[in-house]
Amino acid sequence: LSNAQVGRVVVACLDPNPVASGGAFELREAGIRVDIGVLHDQAEEVNRVFLTAHRTGRSFVCLKVATSLDGFMAPLKGPSGPITGAMARREGRRLRAEMGCVLVGRGTVVEDDPRLTARVKGVVNEPLRLIVDPFRRLSGQERVFQQPGRAVRAVCQELAQPGDWPVPAEDGQIRPTHLVRNALASGVTGILVEGGPRTVSAFLRDGTVDQIEWFVSPDRLGSGRRFDLSDWSGGPWRWKRPRLLGRDLWLRAVRS
Ligand SMILES: NC(=O)c1ccc[n+]([C@@H]2O[C@H](COP(=O)([O-])OP(=O)(O)OC[C@H]3O[C@@H](n4cnc5c(N)ncnc54)[C@H](OP(=O)(O)O)[C@@H]3O)[C@@H](O)[C@H]2O)c1
Repeated sequence: LSNAQVGRVVVACLDPNPVASGGAFELREAGIRVDIGVLHDQAEEVNRVFLTAHRTGRSFVCLKVATSLDGFMAPLKGPSGPITGAMARREGRRLRAEMGCVLVGRGTVVEDDPRLTARVKGVVNEPLRLIVDPFRRLSGQERVFQQPGRAVRAVCQELAQPGDWPVPAEDGQIRPTHLVRNALASGVTGILVEGGPRTVSAFLRDGTVDQIEWFVSPDRLGSGRRFDLSDWSGGPWRWKRPRLLGRDLWLRAVRS
């Protein structure tokens, strides 16, 4: 830009990625007028996944949960089956594509045998599928490993095999913070954490969630495994505008 003798450069927000930062000040030194902060808040909103990842040194974490009206994510035993309707489920798959990576624990793979693909019109690259399987108990024959695109296991580092993501663990417990730091180092800026309850609880307890996408059915389950926000150890939240998707309510919250 300085070689091209550009008269004025307008910057919405500065790039926190050390590889790219500093350019605006170099241009100023070259005598070019640089206005920084124009439409700053809108730019922060549009780029929040990338900006959060590079500011915190870990992937941005979006938590997606579907619950019954009485707060359950799954029955006490066995697969939950669909809790919400088709529109909410389609939105959930779109979020997979938007984040570029989807994460579940081993329990969800065993109980639901999901594909975890986006299956959204126009999406060519399927999201990376990340499965927390600390003791490497899954056989590798499950559907999640047979779909187009990549599926990777996060495994205790001493049990990792080629192709796995080794993560430090204590008594088989992986700290989500370690996992999402490794993920950013591997080029993953955003992760959609889809559960189930044990995985969700680990991310909440660790304070490693930036956004919540919460789909609530109007139906009661009566009993089961809860989505329990009292596990949250981080700071306050701010609601975004809620929406109705068919019969389901779609609640959205971001860290304030
Ligand atoms: N409503 C929803 O939004 C939703 C979403 C997904 C799943 N579900 C339901 O949830 C149920 C499964 O529940 P779940 O709690 O067993 O599923 P899960 O959270 O997907 O899997 C739990 C297992 O994943 C591993 N794991 C997860 N986080 C870990 C961590 N931080 N450190 C170490 N290991 C970790 C552990 O494997 P090991 O046991 O090998 O140690 C753990 O037992 C199913 O009924 C499914 O349908 C509901």
